[in-house]
Amino acid sequence: MVGGWAATLRWRPHRAALPFALLTLAAGAAASPLPRGFDPGLHIGVASCSGTTCHGRQEATGPVVRQNELLTWQNPASLTGAHSRAWRVLQTPRARGIAARLGIADAAQAAECLGCHADQAPRHDARWRQPDGVGCEVCHGGAQGWLASHAAVGAGHADNVARGMLAVDSPRVRAELCLDCHFGSGKPGQFVAHRLMAAGHPRLAFELDLFTSLQAHHDEDADYAARKGVPGGVKVWAVGQAIAVKRALALYPARAGGAFPEFGFFDCRSCHRSFSDDPGVPLVARRNPGRPIPPGQPVWNDENMILLGVAAKVAAPGLARRFDTQSQAFHASFSGDRAATLRAGAALATTAEQLAATFERSRFDRAQGFAMLDAVLADTARYTDYQGGAQAVMAADTLLSALVAAHHVDRAAARAIRPDLDRAYAATRDANRWQPAQFRDALAGVASRLAALQ
Ligand code: HEC
Ligand code: HEC
Ligand code: HEC
Ligand code: HEC
Repeated sequence: MVGGWAATLRWRPHRAALPFALLTLAAGAAASPLPRGFDPGLHIGVASCSGTTCHGRQEATGPVVRQNELLTWQNPASLTGAHSRAWRVLQTPRARGIAARLGIADAAQAAECLGCHADQAPRHDARWRQPDGVGCEVCHGGAQGWLASHAAVGAGHADNVARGMLAVDSPRVRAELCLDCHFGSGKPGQFVAHRLMAAGHPRLAFELDLFTSLQAHHDEDADYAARKGVPGGVKVWAVGQAIAVKRALALYPARAGGAFPEFGFFDCRSCHRSFSDDPGVPLVARRNPGRPIPPGQPVWNDENMILLGVAAKVAAPGLARRFDTQSQAFHASFSGDRAATLRAGAALATTAEQLAATFERSRFDRAQGFAMLDAVLADTARYTDYQGGAQAVMAADTLLSALVAAHHVDRAAARAIRPDLDRAYAATRDANRWQPAQFRDALAGVASRLAALQ
């Protein structure tokens, strides 16, 4: 799917550039207990949000928020409408094929699919409809507690959060939420195991900041900044990488139970590629400096580890060396026993959490934004595999967008970089035709154009 995004991506004109001095940091989720009688496990449905004087306007003309969020969420012609379609795609021929191969009678009613393709709140009221798929409350929290008060004059964000609104403005809260479905979680029905992929489910690729902009229905304008603070794309990206590394390491122990580990955690092409006994045919595996492993060992999918390592080097140099050493030890541990892998994974997860916390506190100035992008474009020796390649081009795209949004790179200059980025996206479009050399060449094109701007 990655290649598909390239065509739909736009610079984000709604992301207003604001001097950081004006910004207040996003309020943490220091929620007091919910007011008496409110049930956070109850979802009251998209219809509760979609009045024409509420979020159901035809145009983005609201004085505070756009108020046409419903139309954006429903847009059939755009990725912004993906969540409104999430349940209905379970009725398509593709979904029926997946279900048939898994021995599931009806994907649209199967717990294994509904966990991510529907709203699984414990309780629903009469206005809630399953065909609404991933509705507003899945991301913004059960609205019963705050529906009446959140639009009142003077209702602050902290007040809403105390009444059960999810603080998805916080990069960490958002990352945990999106990853539940865009990577997987320990909750029922929220994991795309290799079994599902082998039955035809697409591989899940995700990057927090890019995907936020692909489904965005909000403006980070001065008013938003005053109410919530704007973390900026670099921070959202970096925190997203750290939380993604943590998430994979947290899920692995419970998912790797049988004689084989769960294959979905490993680089797909470490198993899925051609080989030959003919000595005239060159071997395809490439040495990767981040992975001290013997030939022939399946590779942990380290797409997020690679990028988190890059972010650490720039924004948390004190932790970067430890993170590198521990990620190498984690890769190496797979030649030993399972207990050693779990220990190495736990140590790595602890450092990833420290990095997330450091990035949450960081401000990511102009110099760091450029340094981060330079490092993504320069450290190409580790982009030997297509999942890492896909993650790297999303990183380049999102970091460049952040520099544009902050007026550090002008829009016309960024547009001139676009063809090289598109070339890099194209190189990751088809796993079977992944060409690391072409990919690196495209990134080098981005790097040289960017160097001319600094
Ligand atoms: C961990 C969450 C998760 C689970 C569980 C899950 N899916 Fe998905 N599914 C996704 C996401 C996310 C996408 C979108 C992938 C992308 O394009 O980025 C998707 C995409 C799809 C698509 C492609 C949709 C399209 O627009 O082409 C189909 C079909 C599908 N899923 C069917 C199923 C079926 C059937 C099941 C149950 C057997 C299932 N899914 C379970 C998260 C999940
Ligand atoms: C996939 C998750 C998701 C879904 C589904 C979703 N939103 Fe959002 N929404 C977000 C994120 C992320 C933001 C930006 C962060 C923030 O300010 O909360 C946002 C922002 C908003 C904002 C702007 C908030 C502000 O302070 O300016 C409004 C209003 C909003 N959403 C309403 C809706 C409505 C109404 C629906 C359903 C029709 C909906 N959202 C569905 C994730 C989602
Ligand atoms: C409850 C599960 C769930 C949550 C939570 C969720 N998503 Fe999704 N998302 C999906 C599913 C399922 C699809 C695929 C739907 C389809 O194919 O129409 C999807 C599709 C998307 C797409 C379109 C991508 C593509 O390639 O088709 C974007 C962008 C996206 N989600 C962003 C986000 C972001 C950002 C968040 C967090 C703020 C988020 N999602 C949270 C389930 C979820
Ligand atoms: C450790 C090895 C291993 C890894 C890693 C692995 N797979 Fe597989 N995969 C297999 C095996 C074995 C089969 C079954 C092959 C068969 O039935 O011929 C399979 C089957 C499949 C199939 C069905 C192919 C077909 O034509 O029937 C798909 C699709 C698939 N895997 C996707 C993936 C994706 C996507 C990833 C990465 C997220 C992945 N695999 C990672 C070993 C692996």
